[in-house]
Amino acid sequence: MVSGTCVIGLQWGDEAKGKLVDLLAPQFDLVVRYQGGANAGHTVVAGDQTYKLHHIPSGILHTQVQNFITPGVVINPSTMLDEIDGLANRGIHCEKNMRISERAHLVMPWHIAEDKIINSTAVRGESIGTTNRGIGPCYRDKVGRTHAIRMADLIQESRDERIGTVAAQKVELLTKMGATQEELDSISPERVISLAADWAERLKDMIGDTTEMLLAACEADKKILFEGAQGALLDIDHGTFPFVTSSNSSGVGVCAGAGVPPRWINHVLGVCKAYSTRVGGGPFPTELDDATGEKIRTLGNEFGTTTGRPRRCGWFDAVALKYTARLSGVTRLALMMMDVLAHFDELKVCVAYELDGKRLDTFPAHADQLRRCKPIYETIPGWNQPVDDVRQVSDFPSGALDYVKRIEELVGIPVGVLSVGPDRAQTIFTEAANALELKN
Ligand code: IMP
Repeated sequence: MVSGTCVIGLQWGDEAKGKLVDLLAPQFDLVVRYQGGANAGHTVVAGDQTYKLHHIPSGILHTQVQNFITPGVVINPSTMLDEIDGLANRGIHCEKNMRISERAHLVMPWHIAEDKIINSTAVRGESIGTTNRGIGPCYRDKVGRTHAIRMADLIQESRDERIGTVAAQKVELLTKMGATQEELDSISPERVISLAADWAERLKDMIGDTTEMLLAACEADKKILFEGAQGALLDIDHGTFPFVTSSNSSGVGVCAGAGVPPRWINHVLGVCKAYSTRVGGGPFPTELDDATGEKIRTLGNEFGTTTGRPRRCGWFDAVALKYTARLSGVTRLALMMMDVLAHFDELKVCVAYELDGKRLDTFPAHADQLRRCKPIYETIPGWNQPVDDVRQVSDFPSGALDYVKRIEELVGIPVGVLSVGPDRAQTIFTEAANALELKN
């Protein structure tokens, strides 16, 4: 029986995927994080507790669920250990139900120093505005191979020699790149060799061959939930390049990152906000640089989980959504933050673009073209009534349901989940969610 379900962000990240994964996790045997790294910030609210997770799969709060971090993820061991310690202080012990792939690459201190230096460089007149978590430099070393360090290297006898050699070369490189003395001290071979010994000691029991374990789980008909990080518009191959992250964050990235062939995946839940947000640089056709944008930012508390940066806000972009939903093989949509749109007299949805005087119904490949795209809006009456207390579809004001219906029509995919707030209880499953074969 095929039993893989993916939760994929369809915009520029921050679509509240963590909340959904946490909610769905008890219905699965395994939760798998398969790309990205500490650039992700998944917020999970359980009762009066809020958990901010960066590497650790959002299924960790459920002790019966096995959580895997697979080869496509890049791991900063110091940050991950901080996360593990933070959870342990609140009674959640990752050693019991989390496994980390020996094939996963490590974000080393020099990657962070490199990210900070390169991030100040403008590309096409604008900085990418990375999270400064060393993600791009780590993936670059992975593809380059010569300077990469993997989890498996941490537990080999050759560890100190390998890390010492790479560190010495990185000191030379970063000196040429203009690193500060403090940055150079932070990557000295002695310091990093000592750090790595500590990481190895603390993580060794969790490191294993997740590829083999996952394949065995698929073959044993286990139910697996794949947790995407970032969003499809940030996908390195299919997003708004070069203003993207360095991994395949759309649905097409699941198989490569996890080490699972397509035959084991049968459902894809595409997650989007009822409006749009973006952090960092890059084109954003429906961006609202005005009081309406500010109102969305305030009502939605749109500030980055990882960096605290204010997020850019704008109306829902159905052209972009249709593109990423098709690219990711989405079978049902989850429309989040409906509560934020509950305070407007009228709402707008972008139904097409105007590019150089012509109507465009598809998403352009080039950032310069996207930057020139002007949104063609359809205006929809707002319902202007709070929905935070809504617990079933029939409780929604009819205006809210009209908005949902229009999005379904424009994107061409039914909405299976509606969210009206951060709490688990503020999640409504529609009839269309039955197709996802969830238990509730
Ligand atoms: P990087 O992934 O840190 O290299 O950042 C590249 C781009 O992706 C920047 O615009 C970041 O703001 C954005 N980005 C990376 N991770 C996330 C995320 O989890 N949510 C939203 N944006 C992200």
